[in-house]
Amino acid sequence: MCGIVGYVGNKPVLDILLDGLEQLEYRGYDSSGIAVQCKDKINVYKAVGKLKALREELASHAYEISKSTVGIGHIRWATHGAPTVVNAHPHTCNCGKLVLVHNGIIENYKELKAKLEAEGCVFKSQTDTETVAHLVAQKYALTHDLTKAVALAVKEIEGAFALEIMHNDEPNKLVITKRNAPLVIGVAPDEYYAASDIPAFIKHTNKAIYLSDDQIATLTADSLEIIDKNGCKVEPKIELLPWEPVALSKMGYKHFMLKEIHEQPDVIRNILSDKLKSPEENVILDEVKLTKETLRNLNRIQVIACGTSLHAAMIGKYIIEDLCGIPVDVEASSEYIYRKTVTDAHTLVIGVSQSGETADTLTAIKQSKARGSHILIITNRPDSAMAREADSLLSVNAGIEVSVAATKSYIAQLTSFYLLALYMAEIKGTYPVSELTNFKHEMLMLPQKIEQILSNMENIRECARKYSATRDFIYIARGINYPTALEGALKLKEISYINATGYPAGELKHGPIAMLDESMPVLSILMKGAVYEKLLSNSEEAKARNARMIALTNSQDKKLDELFDYIIRVPDVAEYLSPIIAIVPLQLIAYYIAEFLGKDVDQPRNLAKSVTVE
Ligand code: F6R
Repeated sequence: MCGIVGYVGNKPVLDILLDGLEQLEYRGYDSSGIAVQCKDKINVYKAVGKLKALREELASHAYEISKSTVGIGHIRWATHGAPTVVNAHPHTCNCGKLVLVHNGIIENYKELKAKLEAEGCVFKSQTDTETVAHLVAQKYALTHDLTKAVALAVKEIEGAFALEIMHNDEPNKLVITKRNAPLVIGVAPDEYYAASDIPAFIKHTNKAIYLSDDQIATLTADSLEIIDKNGCKVEPKIELLPWEPVALSKMGYKHFMLKEIHEQPDVIRNILSDKLKSPEENVILDEVKLTKETLRNLNRIQVIACGTSLHAAMIGKYIIEDLCGIPVDVEASSEYIYRKTVTDAHTLVIGVSQSGETADTLTAIKQSKARGSHILIITNRPDSAMAREADSLLSVNAGIEVSVAATKSYIAQLTSFYLLALYMAEIKGTYPVSELTNFKHEMLMLPQKIEQILSNMENIRECARKYSATRDFIYIARGINYPTALEGALKLKEISYINATGYPAGELKHGPIAMLDESMPVLSILMKGAVYEKLLSNSEEAKARNARMIALTNSQDKKLDELFDYIIRVPDVAEYLSPIIAIVPLQLIAYYIAEFLGKDVDQPRNLAKSVTVE
């Protein structure tokens, strides 16, 4: 899940590549590099660390690159080989004339490497990518044609790849190709861009060509030719992107994560303004094509997702089963794809993904599509690979999320699940109309309630300060907020590196309670409703083991003051909607703890925003 960018045209390439990589930094940030055509040779520059390090490295080479108008760049999230200069891309062949960048994983690289080494190739790095550089160079020695060489090489490669390749003997040309990894071409007069994602070039052009798997494009400043895997010419389909060049600014907030948490009320308003006009009207989901007939034929729903999106899906299960009476299974995509799943035309498969390109979820979707299931995709990226597989699309419209830790996209996914459940209940007639009206009325009040929390954050910040020195953190909840406990814990561990775990509170006494003592914070998500009293008893059990008790609650109950050392109160809310309210203070606790600990909040170590490797 690295990011790649390329340019061929008449403008100075350096800033185009560096700006492009900056926009792709969400895909990885452990090292980076570029290759540019300089007079009669291709120069390669690399650095370890964030893009800043590459910029510093390039400062002393600015003059030699200043006239270059063709180049490729890469930002890395290491999979094979540590983040070092040698392992950073671009990679080269033996003679250094062929240079390439790669996003993805070459699955048969060990076999290819052994063969290439036996044939005299000398490997410098530990990466899977370097095999492709040697392989294409070998084919080039036979064909003396870069496009043909790439076509021959990719036939021998297994796995996922987006590749951008240059060769010194064919200057001012880029050859690019892809399989199971994103690659899009930006089109402008006398210039072409090629990148893993649109933000890398949107400020230059809003015209794009999405390359399909196994197509190869050959780009020069004034020509573009695409062929398919049989070598047949493909007519390029230029699409107009629904994107504005957005300035990704923190708008005065210290971090994108804090800004994105604050955007959540407007994210909900924005979604509801299109899809839920008033409590008395039916939900409008234009791109969801589930008719009465389709719904009648459904036996069950499977929801597949990863990470935060998986937690949104778990809440979706509660609400769909409750409102629509359809059984729902939720499974991590990475588990789903490696077993014999029972999926057929009577199963609705829902894929949930902020990015729309998470490799495991994409593979799972393709598998279930092949078995005849209706595919519904809930995503923040209607232009993504997953959206292209969809029979029905629910676009969550959260806007670009920059911080690696997902916040506003989670709230948007939850809102979308509620709308989907209401929509299906309305079609199926499974719930009393008056109760659905109440539900919708409550939903419309959510933005104000979140604003109330955000306007009074001192208590939450203080709580974060008080517990920031802890090494471990436990979150407990029951019912619909059990996934909230998981999501709160995930937020904390990913940005503060504290060992945080969410448990269904009833499970504490089956093992985890052994860990409790006076050093362990236990945060109880105690929202009023069916399981309130039960969770109170579980909290008593934890208190009896001297744990440091924190409550997140919408209850004014005085007896909580005795039981808990710290209480965070949130506005009252109906139980079924409480996950949307409860997650906000948990996001803020994670944010402030990471901030107190001086962590890199927006770009935590070892993570990337888009996980395009299985
Ligand atoms: C956590 C986080 C990840 C993602 C996961 C799935 O804050 O962002 O856990 O939720 O990698 O990504 P998407 O939703 O893009 O499929």
